[in-house]
Amino acid sequence: MKRVLVFDSGVGGLSVCDALMASGSALEIDYVADNAWLPYGLKSDVELRARVPALLAAVAAQWRPELVVIACNTASTIALDAVRAALDVPVVGVVPPIKPAAALTRSGVIGLLATPATVRRAYTNDLIGQFAADKRVVRFGSSALVEAAEDKLRGGRGDPGAIDEAIKGLFEAPGGGALDVVALACTHFPLLVDELKAAAPRPCVWLDSGEAIARRVAHVLIAEAGVPRVRRAGFTGMSAHAVFSGRGFTGMAHIGGAPEFLAMPVESNAAE
Ligand code: DGL
Repeated sequence: MKRVLVFDSGVGGLSVCDALMASGSALEIDYVADNAWLPYGLKSDVELRARVPALLAAVAAQWRPELVVIACNTASTIALDAVRAALDVPVVGVVPPIKPAAALTRSGVIGLLATPATVRRAYTNDLIGQFAADKRVVRFGSSALVEAAEDKLRGGRGDPGAIDEAIKGLFEAPGGGALDVVALACTHFPLLVDELKAAAPRPCVWLDSGEAIARRVAHVLIAEAGVPRVRRAGFTGMSAHAVFSGRGFTGMAHIGGAPEFLAMPVESNAAE
């Protein structure tokens, strides 16, 4: 089994875990959520570039993964190079699926649904310039959708108001009438794809990066075929034990504060 550490600000990385679990690769998956800092989409670039590499370097030194997945567009688009410099194992980042969206659209109009930070990043502009220069890209940034996904996984209603706002922000924007592909450029959003599809005025393609990340991980690790399994989940903030144990994680940990970010196992029954 190859050991992989999946990282996100919260539960969004579980959409990437779903793809890893479906990949048929022999992977042992640990997860770390920096949920004390959620939502990342409202943090400054400077704050994220300082925190994410330090947190991942500290957790990787303790849990010894063979590869780290930054399962967060908001962190990847600002800190991927800094995380790579801070770690001595391969790092796979997740970036907005602009390229496949541009290849799929027939109308020439693509929706980009991401966090407020990701929609305006230079990294995102570069991707659009490189792969979708001849397309129209309708961007909508939402942090409310991040909270909605967190709420849904905790058993809540997922905030229909946030879903409606995002759908209007895309389909009623100038050019939105012709939109036929939406790039989900935040890993929290695939967790809401059924709600987004149901609220959309017409069918369109909803694209995320999960499968591409899973293929990349298997390729980089030269992973053997096998049955992947999830193992530990660590949280910098409140434990999300119920959500993660429901998905098969067996060990819960609390990750202490900077700069040590010490991972301390938490008894399951005390973890809520
Ligand atoms: N899941 C993260 C992403 O892919 C960000 C959520 C947040 O704003 O914390 O962008």
